[in-house]
Amino acid sequence: MKISLSFFLVTFLCFNHFSFISCEKKVSLTLYYESLCPGCSNFIVNYLPKIFKNGIIDIVDLKLVPWGNTKIQANNTFLCQHGPAECFLDTVEACALDAWPHLNEHFPFIHCVESLVYHKNYTQWETCFEKLNLKKELVTDCVGSDRGKELELRHSAETPPHKFVPWVVVDGLPLYKDYRNFVSYICKAYKGTAPIPGCTSSNSLSFTSEFSTISPDITSFDEQINLAASA
Ligand SMILES: *[C@@H]1O[C@H](CO)[C@@H](O)[C@H](O)[C@H]1NC(C)=O
Ligand SMILES: *[C@@H]1O[C@H](CO)[C@@H](O)[C@H](O)[C@H]1NC(C)=O
Repeated sequence: MKISLSFFLVTFLCFNHFSFISCEKKVSLTLYYESLCPGCSNFIVNYLPKIFKNGIIDIVDLKLVPWGNTKIQANNTFLCQHGPAECFLDTVEACALDAWPHLNEHFPFIHCVESLVYHKNYTQWETCFEKLNLKKELVTDCVGSDRGKELELRHSAETPPHKFVPWVVVDGLPLYKDYRNFVSYICKAYKGTAPIPGCTSSNSLSFTSEFSTISPDITSFDEQINLAASA
């Protein structure tokens, strides 16, 4: 009786959509990225939403870290790979993560902004507030302030050494160029006993065969500097 009750509790805490109690069996998924890198917006818009399907979200702790290949210059200003607009949008996203700590709130916003990046009209980023009925001031008051800068410095400190962006890490292990197969790595890392529809063998196989032949879409710092120099 005691065993089945604790089994029930663990199951409930781990697999309840609305649970805010972190579960030790969740797999961590961290995306280190920068707002204007094409591979990053492609990943956020076309790949990452897969975690919201087939129960994957119930076993994942997703963390977004918008900093990427940004450098801190000697005078303490930021040098972003795709220019000042990228520094600005990275900070917008950092402020959104801070304003809405829950994935259900910040993910739709970041997805909206990155969809605009993906469609090359990110200057419209403020339309995402109206679209999602979010309070604009929480982000706009933060962006140009010390708070925005402080949040970005935190993301800088959190970003591990990496070879390119998007840099996807599952339970501490970077996926390198195989990042678009992240769901199969999540399923492999999952230690829980409840069956996850998105992790059945046929699903994992279809993820692998669907994407493994497409060459990865990545931005390394040196690559981009060379592009900028030749432009
Ligand atoms: C900081 O340093 C960079 C690179 O030397 C320079 O381009 C920029 O204008 C400086 N910014 C400020 C606010 O001093
Ligand atoms: C951005 O561009 C896409 C594709 O061209 C278009 O569908 C969308 O309406 C545009 N969004 C805004 C806010 O301009």
